[in-house]
Amino acid sequence: MNRIYMDNSATSFPKPSGVIGAMVAFARDCGASAGRGAYSEARACEEMIATCRGRIAELINAEAPERVVLAMNCSEGLSMAIRGLLNTSPRGTHVIATAMEHNSVLRPLNALKEQIGIEPEFIACDPSSGLVDPDDIRRAIRSETKLIACVHVSNVTGTIQPIAEVAQIAREHGVGFLVDAAQSAGHVEIDVRKLGADMVAFPGHKGLLGPLGTGVLYVRPGFEECLATMKEGGTGTISELAVQPRTMPDKYEIGSHNAIGLAGLSEGVAWVLDRGVASIRDCDVQLSGLFMELTDGAGGLAVYGPRDTDYRAGVFSVNVRDIAPGVLADRLESQYGLLTRPGVHCAPLAHETIGTHPAGTCRLSFGPMTSEEDVKTAAAALREISGG
Ligand SMILES: Cc1ncc(COP(=O)(O)O)c(C=O)c1O
Repeated sequence: MNRIYMDNSATSFPKPSGVIGAMVAFARDCGASAGRGAYSEARACEEMIATCRGRIAELINAEAPERVVLAMNCSEGLSMAIRGLLNTSPRGTHVIATAMEHNSVLRPLNALKEQIGIEPEFIACDPSSGLVDPDDIRRAIRSETKLIACVHVSNVTGTIQPIAEVAQIAREHGVGFLVDAAQSAGHVEIDVRKLGADMVAFPGHKGLLGPLGTGVLYVRPGFEECLATMKEGGTGTISELAVQPRTMPDKYEIGSHNAIGLAGLSEGVAWVLDRGVASIRDCDVQLSGLFMELTDGAGGLAVYGPRDTDYRAGVFSVNVRDIAPGVLADRLESQYGLLTRPGVHCAPLAHETIGTHPAGTCRLSFGPMTSEEDVKTAAAALREISGG
């Protein structure tokens, strides 16, 4: 039986052959650490990382490559952003986020609530679409509000939030704006300059097709002045300085880089740039439409999130009546070779929103390597299991 990977929201698979080739070549032919030697291999590693940074900057239309801070994953980028901005805030500092956020936003905010008394407020979203109403965010702003955090694409329902409108509201009120682009980078166009977000975090290992252990925090020019470091250490630059450099991106990148991972990520981003995010999005829209059409009306099968592809990406939560999500995922794998993810997907409030807490759902998530055949197999399997 063919195995069909449908867990691209967790991490993308398979990776383009160029990604694997670059990692093998790095391990075999280079192996040096950037900024840690004067020999040609160390310089080649430095150049490779600069190329990777430049490609990421091009992809999101960042002002300059140094606005791209390289991290271990999206969670680390989000944590750097949230804690860097809020760690020294006075009690009562207000933060707005949505009920569709992932634990990598919920947990740092809830930890800071306990530790220093910030007041996070999670704005309710529409139960059927998962969409946040920007006016609800506007109404929640107070004089103590310091940050608005918003997930771009929900990892539970695929909902695309109206982040441009939220960014505009944040700007009008002089409030910081952080976007969690974990599920959108590489899937949906992101132009940080047009958007005007202060910070955007995303993984390298999902839509950008790099390996696990890679992620990014984009920081708008000047915003680093408000953003404390969460970790300090060696950067391989300005070593005579006994304190963390204030220059970007060294301020936030400590220790030897995950160079082998970045060699892969650089090729992943090149692949995405070459194919074009608009074309990847077109395919995702087509596959999402097909999945909804083929599962429409199946008795006993619930498919969550927006029906309109303008407001969703190819991340589908489903449930079959009387079958627990974990059992459904097991049956999809053992009977049809479909690899999915059951449970709460690190987003408990999102599941409360759509009424699937605490059991959760079974999630199928598409990527640029997902084919029409894969989607047809998944839809047919769900129809068969649900008896529809
Ligand atoms: C919406 C969202 N935010 C953040 C994350 C965390 O990403 P990472 O696994 O790269 O830390 C995920 C991961 O699935 C996610 O879906």
